[in-house]
Amino acid sequence: MTQLRVFITGGGRGIGRSIAVRFAREGAKVAIAARNSEQLDAVVAEIDAAGGEGYAVQMDIADHNSAEAAVFRATEFFDGTMDLLVNNAGIFSMQPFEELTLDVWQRFLNINLTGPFVVTLEALGALQESERPHIINMCSIAAKQGFAGNVGYCASKYGLRGFSDALREDLRAKGIRVSTIYPSATDTSMLAGVPGDWDKSKLNQPEDVAEVVWKAYHMDSGYEDLDV
Ligand SMILES: NC(=O)c1ccc[n+]([C@@H]2O[C@H](COP(=O)([O-])OP(=O)(O)OC[C@H]3O[C@@H](n4cnc5c(N)ncnc54)[C@H](OP(=O)(O)O)[C@@H]3O)[C@@H](O)[C@H]2O)c1
Repeated sequence: MTQLRVFITGGGRGIGRSIAVRFAREGAKVAIAARNSEQLDAVVAEIDAAGGEGYAVQMDIADHNSAEAAVFRATEFFDGTMDLLVNNAGIFSMQPFEELTLDVWQRFLNINLTGPFVVTLEALGALQESERPHIINMCSIAAKQGFAGNVGYCASKYGLRGFSDALREDLRAKGIRVSTIYPSATDTSMLAGVPGDWDKSKLNQPEDVAEVVWKAYHMDSGYEDLDV
């Protein structure tokens, strides 16, 4: 089997880290991108220890030049061919609508929606070189259902859902598959900002989401919309 070449945004912790390690266990080349270089380096060490080949790229996806440069460097690491792009980087915070400032609203859209657009556009050429190219967009249950205090997050994830659904149709003829993953609450640092005393015992683990990503890549059909 050829060595898979996988690029994961937001690969420095949480769900992205688990996806990186899942593919590394099968010997993949995995490039991960995020802002925190210490976290990226720690995950690269885990990728290498798991049997893969890791590469860290520092990137602020809110800065679109930085995002394009990150894709360029990952593509160099892959010698020009990318098999799987996972648009996973994202932010979350809660605020009542009347406290949602324009700045925070724009940050949600910039990171959670425009970020995947910029990264995908830049990665398209390298994906087209692959024999089995695939793009996986990390949405959320908040792309299917509204939640109080989540106007900005839900709007960005509903947008990402639309991006993903339409992209699938646009890229079908090129043989590039597009999947959308809809995780429910998952035990990562992202949920640290959720107020109140709530039951964490039923949360997904990030490894559960990673397993769905692994299966989505390898499925022959039924890979398009996946709930976790
Ligand atoms: N946890 C959940 O309950 C849940 C449920 C449904 C969907 N999701 C989605 O799953 C994805 C991963 O979330 P997670 O739970 O793993 O959260 P997390 O632990 O907070 O990880 C988020 C990742 O995104 C990166 N990121 C954030 N802002 C960035 C920026 N400006 N530029 C580049 N990278 C950035 C972070 O790295 P840096 O901060 O170092 O940049 C980090 O690596 C997100 O898209 C999230 O919306 C999560």
